[in-house]
This record gives sequence, C-alpha cells and structure tokens, in this order.
Amino acid sequence: MQEQIDFTTKSILEKTNNFKPHVGIILGTGLGGLVKEITVEHVLPYTEIPNFPVSTVEGHSGKLIFGKLGGKNVMAMQGRFHFYEGYDMKQITFPVRVMKALGIKTLCVSNAAGGMNPKFDVGEIMIINDHINLFPTNPLIGKNDAQLGPRFVDMSETYKKELITLAKTIAKENNIKVSEGVYAGLTGPCFETPAEYRYLWRIGADAVGMSTVPEAIVAKHSGMDCFGISIITDLGIEGEVHTVTHEEVQAVANTQEPKMTLIMKELIARL
Ligand code: HPA
Repeated sequence: MQEQIDFTTKSILEKTNNFKPHVGIILGTGLGGLVKEITVEHVLPYTEIPNFPVSTVEGHSGKLIFGKLGGKNVMAMQGRFHFYEGYDMKQITFPVRVMKALGIKTLCVSNAAGGMNPKFDVGEIMIINDHINLFPTNPLIGKNDAQLGPRFVDMSETYKKELITLAKTIAKENNIKVSEGVYAGLTGPCFETPAEYRYLWRIGADAVGMSTVPEAIVAKHSGMDCFGISIITDLGIEGEVHTVTHEEVQAVANTQEPKMTLIMKELIARL
C-alpha cells in the first residue's frame, strides 16, 4: 500500500505545484457549502488521481479541492466513498492515507445521520464524541504496515476532546444549538428498521449513518486528530419513525448547511 500512497501523493504534489495542506476535510452531506468559503488554488477530479476510486452516489461529485480556509491550507474531498457502493475498506480510506502523506494533521468530517436520542429534533447538529463500528469489517484488517501506524490502535479518544470543546464554544458564540453524541456506523444502503433503531439506541448510539467510521479509524491509525459533525436528518425514535428518502435527508441537511459551514470554518481558523 505504501507504494500506491507514495505514487498518488507524488502525482498530487506535481499537479498542485507542491501545495502542502494542513487540514483535511471530507465534505459529507451538510458541508457542501464549505467549498464556497475556500479560496481555491487547485481542483483535481478523482478521475485524474491515480489509485483513487470514483464516487457513484447521487449528490456526491468527486474532486479534491486545495486552497485556503480560515487562513489554513486545506484539502477538501468533495465526494466520499461508501461501503454500500461496493468499495472495500482499503479503497474507502485510501484518501485519508494520502492526506497523512501530504502532511495533514487534522481530519474534519461531516455526515447525515438518523437520530435515536429522544432529545434530538430533525435538523439537530450533533458533534461526534465517539463511534461504534458496526461495519462487518475494519480498514486495518490484514498485514499491518508499521510505517503507517501501529498494529493495535488506541481508540480511547478517536474524536479529539479539545476540538469538540472548541466547536461547542464556537457554536455558543454564534447562538447555534449543538449536541454531542455517539455515532454508529453501519453499511446501509437500507435505512434502519424501527427494531434496528431501537437496538442502536440500546447499545449506546445517539445517531446512525453509513460513513465516517472507516475514515476515523484510519485517521487514528495514522496519528491524525479527528473531528466530526452529524446532521440529524430523520429520527429513529420510538413512535417517530417515518418513511425516509435520500431527498429528504439532503433537504434537511441543506437547511442546516450554513450553521455547519460556520462551525467548521471557524474551527479550522482556530486550530
Ligand atoms: N440511517 C442511516 N443513515 C442515515 C440516516 C439513517 O436514518 N439518515 C441519514 N443517513
């Protein structure tokens, strides 16, 4: 894998005139608008990046954006890879390996999620303080490359507390209501049954989605700091479970996008 990472990293450096990003951003649902805040210096479609998979899901176009945000050099992934698209864990997390190789220290991610916590409303912004990996596998399975990280990874603080505190401060200063909670990651592409939402709440998850966990695991393995936000687009609360569509998820996420964007931009500025 090191060879592929090196090859891709070299190719990106060539195409971006040796641009050195310090913060990596995965623009999941709810953060698309952050692109408008970036002073863009280079754009690379995934199709032009060796070893990069190509995103297939509606609403996720695939390109890497390099530029300045909040005074920092950032690299943003517009379009992420999901397990339900048929990619394996190594493919999904390959861009995170490349981020590390490019010198990135902090990974910021967003996603849309269903909310099981009865205190949550649709549109709730939840800062992820931990996760439960319910994917049937793990991106670190297989021979460990000690150059990339340790065999057994400490996960006691996967989402950096300091960043959570900072995000909460920023939200408060801007009168944005945020909550904190545990994100359960599972494969999708089905949304959950009422029994599954009930089960997820009972095992300690506040929200559920189909991404983020693989990337956070690899970020942690690589020694990067991780920060994540979920936008609660639908509720998996007993008596509140209704039909969910991808369009509704997008629509709710869009209404909260300005708030998510502000928190993320300001967080990056204060890193
Ligand atoms: N479940 C899983 N993923 C999701 C959901 C959900 O309810 N809402 C948005 N993404």
